[in-house]
Amino acid sequence: MKANDHAPFAAYVPEADRYENMPYRKCGRSGVQLPAFSIGLWHNFGQFDNFGECRNILRTAFDLGITHFDLANNYGPPYGSAEETLGRILDLDFRPYRDELFISSKAGYDMWPGPYGYGGSRKYLVSSLDQSLKRMNLDYVDLYYHHFPDTETPIEETVGALDSIVRQGKALYVGISNYSDTQTAEALKLFKELGTPCLIHQARYSMFDRWVEDGLLDLIGDEGIGMIAFSPLAQGLLTNRYLNGIPENSRAADANSHLESDSVKEYLPKIQVLAKVAEKRDQSLAQMALAWLLRDDRITSVLIGASSPEQLKENVKAIDNLEFSQEEQKIIQEIIA
Ligand SMILES: NC(=O)c1ccc[n+]([C@@H]2O[C@H](COP(=O)([O-])OP(=O)(O)OC[C@H]3O[C@@H](n4cnc5c(N)ncnc54)[C@H](OP(=O)(O)O)[C@@H]3O)[C@@H](O)[C@H]2O)c1
Repeated sequence: MKANDHAPFAAYVPEADRYENMPYRKCGRSGVQLPAFSIGLWHNFGQFDNFGECRNILRTAFDLGITHFDLANNYGPPYGSAEETLGRILDLDFRPYRDELFISSKAGYDMWPGPYGYGGSRKYLVSSLDQSLKRMNLDYVDLYYHHFPDTETPIEETVGALDSIVRQGKALYVGISNYSDTQTAEALKLFKELGTPCLIHQARYSMFDRWVEDGLLDLIGDEGIGMIAFSPLAQGLLTNRYLNGIPENSRAADANSHLESDSVKEYLPKIQVLAKVAEKRDQSLAQMALAWLLRDDRITSVLIGASSPEQLKENVKAIDNLEFSQEEQKIIQEIIA
């Protein structure tokens, strides 16, 4: 914990108009709607982050109409600590609003030592969710994902485990993340056979990473499930953060993060040109990059990260201009090709 963790906070009263501006999109053909922007707790919510700032970010998110908070067992560091942070913030600010929130968690990557702490086995998925629920002090999550395909475990076992988790009432819906189009098709078939629909696919998608356009998005659309795009700003590359070098407190400067400083060098020329296109649209680069993803109505929600409430506020303003002219689309396409 850092200084400011004990700064006084007034009792939280959410903005009365919080549902007025945020668009909500149907998650495929399900009955669930998600906000156009969701917030992820992968970074900035661990044990060593400023708890007061975590609280401010989530209060700001909810005030902006962001009802969906996305977690995973291993978010931190250390693993599990983002879920603990959320549990504390729920106690302090959000328990009365539990039914206005859509909270997800995941398991798949390594979480604890030994053969039962990673992968896609029933043993791992069920016990990891029990641990996540304890850390967040929740009776159920709204959505539980298999985080990463595990080719060592039969897909029948993984899908079967998710099905029983729903039947036990520990998750209302289930989803998959990082599955290829072939793996997704296989899983969806099994979910259908078991009678538990797969709500959504969580996949990395940004102007700089468009792998989902090679078949997965079409499958998602045809099957009528949702798609939530993670790292939509390429972890901050698609913002003004790196236009003048690598700031000390940024993700690229953090040796433990997954954003290499070399990526900044590699992408800088494209970032600079895209920032000019955004300026012409009267948007920040972040706003344009987020709006660009939402132009496809198969994208249910865009899952952003933020290290401050100000970033979040800036990003959500993207909803003021979600339209792209043909000319703009063409220019962007040429830059990011
Ligand atoms: N399923 C999976 O395998 C998987 C994998 C990764 C992520 N996710 C989910 O997706 C969520 C979002 O991922 P992400 O954090 O990589 O998303 P992102 O939105 O691409 O990146 C967020 C980072 O970009 C920077 N940023 C955001 N808005 C900015 C602005 N207006 N101006 C300047 N910089 C800005 C901040 O970096 P600084 O910290 O430098 O300020 C922020 O922490 C995660 O929290 C997690 O829930 C899922």
